[in-house]
Amino acid sequence: MNARAATTITVAEPTPAVAAEPTPQLRRAEPCTMVIFGAGDLLHRKLMPSLFHLMGDGLLPDEFAVLAVARSQGDDDWFRTEVGNALRTFAQGGDGGPDAAAVRRFASHLHYLPGELDDMATYAALRRRIGDIDAAFPGGRGHLFYLAIPPSLYADAITRLAQTGVAPRVPDPRQRPWVRIIIEKPFGRSLASAVELNACVRRAFAEHQVYRIDHYLGKETVQNLLVFRFANSIFEPIWNRAHVHHVQITAAESVGVEHRARYYEEAGVVRDMFQNHLLQLLSLMAMEPPVTFSADAVRDEKVKALRAIRPITPDAMHDYAVRGQYGPGTIDGRPVPGYREEPDVAPGSATPTYAAIRFMIDNWRWHDVPFYLRSGKRLPHRATEIAIQFRKPPHVMFPMPPGETMEPNTLAIRVQPQEGITLRFEVKVPGIEVRTASVDMDFSYAEAFGELEHDAYETLLLDCMLGEATLFTRSDEVEAAWTAVDPILDYWAGKRPEHFPNYAAGAWGPAVADQFIAREGARWREP
Ligand code: BG6
Repeated sequence: MNARAATTITVAEPTPAVAAEPTPQLRRAEPCTMVIFGAGDLLHRKLMPSLFHLMGDGLLPDEFAVLAVARSQGDDDWFRTEVGNALRTFAQGGDGGPDAAAVRRFASHLHYLPGELDDMATYAALRRRIGDIDAAFPGGRGHLFYLAIPPSLYADAITRLAQTGVAPRVPDPRQRPWVRIIIEKPFGRSLASAVELNACVRRAFAEHQVYRIDHYLGKETVQNLLVFRFANSIFEPIWNRAHVHHVQITAAESVGVEHRARYYEEAGVVRDMFQNHLLQLLSLMAMEPPVTFSADAVRDEKVKALRAIRPITPDAMHDYAVRGQYGPGTIDGRPVPGYREEPDVAPGSATPTYAAIRFMIDNWRWHDVPFYLRSGKRLPHRATEIAIQFRKPPHVMFPMPPGETMEPNTLAIRVQPQEGITLRFEVKVPGIEVRTASVDMDFSYAEAFGELEHDAYETLLLDCMLGEATLFTRSDEVEAAWTAVDPILDYWAGKRPEHFPNYAAGAWGPAVADQFIAREGARWREP
């Protein structure tokens, strides 16, 4: 490989004649009251802006209300002002921010109830407030409960919601009004605690009422992975061990731990990114084609892929997983502190902020094909991608310069930013001699369709209100993902990382991660 050129493909107009089904139209949410437990960061940064955008797009009905329940003292007016301020910072709008009239209209749907979640009196008050809101809109309306609270409070809140009858079990998914609950990640902190939390959830609700959220599944490119794989016939025949050498899934972040060290110190990168987001990407990449696009058909196949992950034994751990923690360094030309110097981090913290893990999927399709997953904070820039590296041609008949080999073909799916797909292949460099070069055939979402504007939470909140659970994780999926990472967490918990910090902020992770992948004849891509 001597040179690199870029090729852009144009996007053809869709051909209506070949569509088997009519294009599904965006549906409006059903009338409902959304009760949000917790009024912190998630509510201000994500939930309120997403609901505001959905309302702006006409996807929420007039009979929609939010009732937030949190510890701060305040009333509806106070809460509406708070949310208005948050929208001016976090919601999209023109140059002057979101339209003031639209903010006022949205705020009129908001309500607030101060209360402690471990106090039964809060649930009695909650029941009354829900009753008052419902009374203003005759006719049945759904009730959606959203747990945006620290995970240690989930089980207690779920049990109290059920015991008090505020959120009753609804055995039949067709029953109206519906009752649903959204549970944020992390869902447990180990397999055992996830199993326990699932049991608690099951005592309270039927599985169809439960929406375990993983915001990666709401990302446009992640959903596109299903379309890319199963709406095209040219990729599936090569999507297997006969053609794929290995797969790399990277979620790189340039931010550090920010203000979340209290949570992060307990979690670390494997619980924060691998158990959920990265293993979700792996399962979508590796799964067999589902028979239908229904929630259970898709999730059945994902869970089969997760269950096929080879268990990692302690004696083989160093062949499968490496960890790192950032020290001081430079990001975008500006000095940044090391993890141990961040607020609320213990001075000798052993929490990993980087990990690289090799997962093997022991089934017919993927036998012997490594899936290298890595994620870290304070890497050079933000980039999430899935890259499939194909096998090299078995015999190269073209003369190569000494020391050079033919580059393998790569298909890279950029999840974010600059969402798109790039296929890299070899061509002949024009000229008298035969020289090869790698070129990129590039599909960019922004060029083809304009900038992606909506947030993953918009997709997921609307789906939940519509009873569409495909993009939410089922109990067995969550447990299968914990089964895959639990041995790594246990092993690391028993061995203090004496070498931390082992990468400087602004580097692509620790040197051991490069050696780890090089042992298998591969190297990390720079996304
Ligand atoms: C969250 C993690 O789930 O995902 C964060 O808790 C991480 O630590 C974030 O920064 C990354 O999400 P995104 O959408 O920015 O890739």
